[in-house]
Amino acid sequence: MKLPRFYRRVHLKTIFCAFIVIIIFYYFLSMRGTYNNQNQVDLRLIYEELHQTNESSLKSYIVSTSTCNIPDFHPWDSSVQLLSTKCEPSDEVDPKCHERKNVRRWMYGTASDLVVNLTEIHASGYSWSALHCCYHVIERVEQPLDNYDTNADSVIRYSSKCHPIKNSRQRVTDEFIRVYCIATSVPLLEDVVYRELFAFPQLDKQVQGNISSSKEKSQISGSSSFNSPPNVVIIGIDTNSRLNSHRRLKKTLEVLKGIGAVEMFGYTKVGENTFPNTVAFLTGMDTKEMQPLCLHSDDDPQDDCPYVWKDFKNAGYLTSTIEDVPYAAGFNYLKTGFLRKPCDFYLRPFLLGVMMQPREHVWFAKCVGRYYIEELLLKYMKDVLDTGSKASSPVFIHSWFAVMSHHCINSPRFRDGLIATFLETVNKTNTVLILMSDHGDRYGKFRETALGWYEDKLPTMWIYLPPALRENFPSWEQSLRINSRRLSSHFDLYQTFTHLIRTFRNDVILQESFTPTVRRKGQSFLEPIPENRTCESAGIPSAYCACTEPQTLEISGDNKTVLLNAAAVAITFLEQNLPKECAKPVLKEIVSGKVMKMPRVGSIYVISMYTDPGNFLFEVTLRGDGDTKGFVIETLDDLLRMNKIERKANCVSSPVIERYCYCL
Ligand SMILES: *[C@@H]1O[C@H](CO)[C@@H](O)[C@H](O)[C@H]1NC(C)=O
Ligand SMILES: *[C@@H]1O[C@H](CO)[C@@H](O)[C@H](O)[C@H]1NC(C)=O
Ligand SMILES: *[C@@H]1O[C@H](CO)[C@@H](O)[C@H](O)[C@H]1NC(C)=O
Ligand SMILES: *[C@@H]1O[C@H](CO)[C@@H](O)[C@H](O)[C@H]1NC(C)=O
Ligand SMILES: *[C@@H]1O[C@H](CO)[C@@H](O)[C@H](O)[C@H]1NC(C)=O
Ligand SMILES: *[C@@H]1O[C@H](CO)[C@@H](O)[C@H](O)[C@H]1NC(C)=O
Ligand SMILES: [Zn+2]
Repeated sequence: MKLPRFYRRVHLKTIFCAFIVIIIFYYFLSMRGTYNNQNQVDLRLIYEELHQTNESSLKSYIVSTSTCNIPDFHPWDSSVQLLSTKCEPSDEVDPKCHERKNVRRWMYGTASDLVVNLTEIHASGYSWSALHCCYHVIERVEQPLDNYDTNADSVIRYSSKCHPIKNSRQRVTDEFIRVYCIATSVPLLEDVVYRELFAFPQLDKQVQGNISSSKEKSQISGSSSFNSPPNVVIIGIDTNSRLNSHRRLKKTLEVLKGIGAVEMFGYTKVGENTFPNTVAFLTGMDTKEMQPLCLHSDDDPQDDCPYVWKDFKNAGYLTSTIEDVPYAAGFNYLKTGFLRKPCDFYLRPFLLGVMMQPREHVWFAKCVGRYYIEELLLKYMKDVLDTGSKASSPVFIHSWFAVMSHHCINSPRFRDGLIATFLETVNKTNTVLILMSDHGDRYGKFRETALGWYEDKLPTMWIYLPPALRENFPSWEQSLRINSRRLSSHFDLYQTFTHLIRTFRNDVILQESFTPTVRRKGQSFLEPIPENRTCESAGIPSAYCACTEPQTLEISGDNKTVLLNAAAVAITFLEQNLPKECAKPVLKEIVSGKVMKMPRVGSIYVISMYTDPGNFLFEVTLRGDGDTKGFVIETLDDLLRMNKIERKANCVSSPVIERYCYCL
């Protein structure tokens, strides 16, 4: 039977729609399927071995001095399973960027050349002659020094000219480029069939001139019998405790041990999150001391801040600072960053270009083409080292990796091999290598455990001295071995940098000499740290001091009164600092209370409490003797909001207040 034309159309349409609906339905079903499968990632695979901590195992210490005792927790203490509560299922699997289908790798970059891989092009069914390839330069757009906005470090553009790529190998004199190829024959005529970004460290002429003049100076000053300053390379991994390196970077640690790097067991954070800790090891100051010098408000550009790369630069080094998450980079997160590039090699414009490409996450990219983002950064670092070596100039590199660990502290295991391989190549150069972090896991279920409290405060830190330095300065190596088991902090790393600079260039006037009233904290790792060093004498605020084991208090009787007093001080602080858009917090419950009796400092109380409305969990550290009035909050910058933010505080704009606010 033939239906009238009209009905036939409706009929077809209906079938078509139903078909689409079914496809969408199955798509979601399959998505749920993968999600569930991944959700069931066997915890036993992630936590290979688990240990129950017992009383006797906690009696041994990794740091044990007359003033500081840090217990020797097992890296696989069973509480580490709680780390998974913050990981997305996708964080617990390797994205395997190398195996991505439909992503072409037709070209690659050496330190200076762009090379076409004809084999790859043929393998994907194309020929070089049937392609038109060219590149746009990725340019940093700078704003005037006297008229800028908070976006000043985040604007790039592509050059209007597309430079043709004619040869299968050609020298590139631009720093960052975006290549694309168009098919010049059917069936994909005029379609873009390949696109990729490349970075080439470029020495500009002026810098080259400065290097040679600096070399002359170095010979004149002749400050040291050993005349060639080493490269200094920092590999920083955000949110990575000492023990997490032992769990998740086993190959890397094997290489470090193999080349004779030294682990700093008592390395302690000095601020809550990334920025204050970074400032500590790059300037020797705390943020409060730096603010009046160059950072009155977060919106101020940091061009005038005395970051130590300027001292390295003055000492004839080529410098570089590199971060893998441009949208949340240490100097840029809620801050303006730099109006002018702060170092000779500044990868940020390239990474902003990466973020403009299609990608799987809004805030970061795990894969760039068929590379891991870390792979791109490490290659760039290697190219920078090569560039320095060709110019006979030492190199200072500050690199910071956050993609692999920031969301899920279990994930660095997927990049362990990459980092280990990089370290093996660095071993062949005259390089002082620092593998470090800023802090451990800072909030969530694991952080609420006894081990979590310690790991937060004790970031990983390894220092490697190249053979030439060990031979010429045997006392440096001895000091490192002694300091390995002493209390230390980010401030000491800064002092180590200036110690190195002064050793090779005693004519360089360090930036710190222009601010003599600000006393730089810490001391060089290349000299023995006193046995009786305390957190106070090391410049570590008592809220981050891990030297005295917290004693748990029973929440009853007199103890309860003391804890309630402490909680009242914290509630009052919140009340006074929350804007009127937020509900007044009331104490719901004190979950735990601990006390540390610190010599000379007094009693430090750590309380965990829930407040209403919103069921917010806070950890507050207070100093006091237990009287109602006696308590002072030690963590004023950041009362730690420990539990997940379920309900966004849209009524306030400050990100810190947001975490404390239950909008009315
Ligand atoms: C406690 O732990 C240590 C080290 O993990 C182990 O050698 C010891 O047998 C344990 N003791 C008890 C009583 O379980
Ligand atoms: C070029 O491509 C081929 C085929 O994929 C690959 O085996 C080879 O390693 C590539 N060459 C370089 C230098 O990357
Ligand atoms: C190079 O040296 C000149 C003067 O010696 C100085 O003005 C300039 O800032 C230096 N350039 C760089 C990039 O450091
Ligand atoms: C590091 O370098 C030293 C000396 O050059 C060499 O003996 C050692 O095998 C190297 N180690 C690694 C892991 O490459
Ligand atoms: C450490 O000991 C030295 C020498 O005994 C002493 O001068 C110094 O004050 C002590 N430091 C602290 C922080 O107690
Ligand atoms: C406080 O708590 C500790 C540890 O639970 C207990 O030993 C002590 O007796 C308590 N003190 C008072 C006054 O309740
Ligand atoms: Zn951090």
